[in-house]
Amino acid sequence: MAAETIRLDVARYRPEEDAEPVLQSYEVPLRPDWAVLDGLAHIKDHLDGTLSFRWSCRMGICGSCGMDVDGEPRLTCGTFLAEYGAGPVRIEPLKGFPVIRDLVVDIDGFLAKLSSVRPWLVREGEEPPLTAEYAQTPAQLDAYKQYSMCINCMLCYSACPVYVLDPDFLGPAAIALAQRYNLDSRDMDDRFDVLNLEEAVWGCTFVGDCTRVCPKHVDPAEAIQRYKVTAALRSVLPWSGR
Ligand code: SF4
Ligand code: FES
Repeated sequence: MAAETIRLDVARYRPEEDAEPVLQSYEVPLRPDWAVLDGLAHIKDHLDGTLSFRWSCRMGICGSCGMDVDGEPRLTCGTFLAEYGAGPVRIEPLKGFPVIRDLVVDIDGFLAKLSSVRPWLVREGEEPPLTAEYAQTPAQLDAYKQYSMCINCMLCYSACPVYVLDPDFLGPAAIALAQRYNLDSRDMDDRFDVLNLEEAVWGCTFVGDCTRVCPKHVDPAEAIQRYKVTAALRSVLPWSGR
C-alpha cells in the first residue's frame, strides 16, 4: 500500500529568474508527528534542494521559522501537517515583509524597531555596562515577565492590519518589549518619546490579532493599550508614573 502523502503548495521566489512569487506543489509524507517544517525539510533533502527557508531550534524557541500557513502566521515547527487533513497546505513567507528568496523575509526593519525602544535597563547616572546588583521581588518580576517571553518570531506583525498597511508602525513586539523594560522596577526610562506617537501606540486600532497569533502568550495588544493609558495620563499629569 502506498504511504499517505499530503500536497504542500510552497511559494517560490528566486529573484534572479522570477518576476514575482509562484506556488510550486510537492507531495510529502503525511506522518502524525511531522510539523510543517518537517515537510519543508523533506522537500529540501529529497525533492528540491534549492528551496530556501529559515529555521533553527525546531522547538518553538528561536522564533526563526515563522511563515504564512494556509493564510495564518504560524511557527512551522509547532504546526502539524495532520491539522490540515487531506491538504493541500499553502506555505508562503510572512505577509508584510519584503521577500528575499522563497520563504525567507527581510528582518532588518523589524530589528531596527526593536532597538529603537532602548531594550536595556536604563539607570540615571549609571553608564552601561551596569555592574551593581539590583534585587527584585517575585511580584516585581511578575510585573513584566509576560512581556519578556517574546521570541521575536514576527507573527504578530504579519497578523497586524496596521503594520501591513504602514511598515513604519512600530508594531506589537517592539511596544511589548518597551513595556517589558518600563514595567521593570530596575529601569528608570519611560520611552515616552518613542511610544507616544501616531506610528507607535496611537496607530494601534486594537484589532487584537497580534495577541491571537502569538505563540508565547505575550499579549502585545494588552501592552499597547496599557501604554495608551500611561501616555494619556502623562499628557495631562506630566509627573505621573511610567
Ligand atoms: S509578541 Fe509574540 S508573536 Fe510577536 S514577536 Fe513576540 S513571540 Fe512572536
Ligand atoms: S525552528 Fe525555532 S521556533 Fe521554530
